[in-house]
Amino acid sequence: MSDPLMSVYPPLEPATLVTRRSLQFPFNSDGLTLTHLGRGAIWLALKALGLGPGHRLAMPAYHCGSEVEAARLAGIEVVFYRVLPTLEVDHEDLFRVSRQCHATYLISYYGFPMPPLPPGTLVIEDAAHALFSYDGGAAIGSRGAAAIFCPRKSLGVPDGGAVLIRDGHIEAQGRPPWKRMARSMASQSMGWAAQSRAGVLRAPATKVFRKVSKAEQAVEEGTLTEVVIGEWNLEVADLEVAASKSSRMTEWAVHGADGEAIRRHRRRNYAILLNALPDVVPPRFRGLPDGVAPLYYPVRVPQRDRTIAELQKRGVRSIEIWPVPHPLLDRRRFAELEPLRHEMLALPVHQGLSEWHMEQVAKAAREAIMAAHR
Ligand SMILES: Cc1ncc(COP(=O)(O)O)c(C=O)c1O
Repeated sequence: MSDPLMSVYPPLEPATLVTRRSLQFPFNSDGLTLTHLGRGAIWLALKALGLGPGHRLAMPAYHCGSEVEAARLAGIEVVFYRVLPTLEVDHEDLFRVSRQCHATYLISYYGFPMPPLPPGTLVIEDAAHALFSYDGGAAIGSRGAAAIFCPRKSLGVPDGGAVLIRDGHIEAQGRPPWKRMARSMASQSMGWAAQSRAGVLRAPATKVFRKVSKAEQAVEEGTLTEVVIGEWNLEVADLEVAASKSSRMTEWAVHGADGEAIRRHRRRNYAILLNALPDVVPPRFRGLPDGVAPLYYPVRVPQRDRTIAELQKRGVRSIEIWPVPHPLLDRRRFAELEPLRHEMLALPVHQGLSEWHMEQVAKAAREAIMAAHR
């Protein structure tokens, strides 16, 4: 019998499609628009705030890259502020750079709180990792002039970014290509079966999933990083597709999302890994502040790529965290972040995983880390 296959992002839960609840923040906000991808939401946020050629945007030196790509394609000049190797933002540098810019872009890393909002500047909150996450009493994404979210990362929906404009609204145009959506839905449903505790569903789904997954093949071939970089050098037309309306299925499925239960399950799963693997999580993420809904469990290990391959053999599909910065970043100037790019990976803690699954993730991670060091 095959073991369950557990991925960092949740698969589509059929229950979400048959449940209707009252919408929760940010989905209940007037200024919210669902888009096909998160980068499309950023594209619309920049437009709604009137940012384009002739404007400067302060962005963090530690980033995913697709947010910087959206700003580049919008013709905006990006000025980077410092993020310390602990993954805390250097507040002094953030405030200094913000003063030179027309707007400031803040990112919540893995759903954890953002730095304080610099005064006197338009702020875009990137809550791509922080759906249903709180900083003290405030929902992450509720304070800036605009915020972006990435429901597809947290909810197992087949696509979906979201943009929230605090004092306004922006329309998305068109729908994503149906072929792309059909592929995504097939892979999401297969992911659900592959993670299932029911062996009859699991074995065939795991087999197909492994065969068609580009990421699995890339891990085996050692080319995972190239797959990430392939998402850059985009064109305006790519961003326009990313900024189209989300699929109808995503529009429907967000009505089934129970933010409070998602946060509770993610916190429980994170706590299980904190207990099992306390030494490999960077110190900033060694506790779980009240209200945080973590996107994943960040792990820092010297043999990252081998650890990912060992995890995959044990049924855990981890991912590299941000292995390469956007080409606009001067990597020598921010050289202190380079080690992180080679050493960080993400383990799953999503709401679709039970305590039983989490014991398997913890065991696999312990074994994989040891095997990678041999
Ligand atoms: C912090 C951050 N912002 C924005 C995005 C863009 O999301 P998407 O890949 O849906 O375009 C990502 C995703 O990879 C991200 O990690």
